[in-house]
Amino acid sequence: MSKIVVLISGRGSNMENLVCSDIPGKFVLVASNNPNADGLKKAKNMGIRTAVVDHKTFSSRQDFDLALAKKLEEYEPDLILLAGFMRVLSKKFLSRFENKVLNIHPSLLPAFPGQHSHKQAIKKGVRIHGCTVHFVTPSLDAGPIIVQSAIPVNPEDDEKSLAKKVLEQEHQIYPIAVKWFLEK
Ligand code: GRF
Repeated sequence: MSKIVVLISGRGSNMENLVCSDIPGKFVLVASNNPNADGLKKAKNMGIRTAVVDHKTFSSRQDFDLALAKKLEEYEPDLILLAGFMRVLSKKFLSRFENKVLNIHPSLLPAFPGQHSHKQAIKKGVRIHGCTVHFVTPSLDAGPIIVQSAIPVNPEDDEKSLAKKVLEQEHQIYPIAVKWFLEK
């Protein structure tokens, strides 16, 4: 069975939702750069092994990436899922897991990469917003797109309401993308 690792930095709702979806793989590790990530507790409660590689304890991005890569390699993952993981991974890291790293981003890429996508969407006055699952490449939020889901933006929407509606869609499409990946 395919071995899946999830990387998180915070709440971990996508991670929890993925673990609870009927994905034909085994979640062997949930790892975080943030020792206080709430998602770590959720993973432990679901009986999944967790690890912390705290970026603050490394003097360079390269050292952090190397330590994270080594930790992940212990588990020989077939697939690495970024789910609210707030670090940009280097080319060196990604070359060790080529075409095996997916991410979910809360916008219809290529619109609004980076942080605060809902704020950007409101500011631009777009009428359609959403989320994207894509392969991770060294360029931020720019890898090949696997699946997207769109929602209408209504006049009364604000950042909070968009975040809620988009998150519901994230929980729909990330498991679909993972199944497609595992089915090759
Ligand atoms: C999600 O909106 C995801 O798209 C973004 O960060 C958020 C993480 O939420 N990259 P959660 O930790 O999965 O609840």
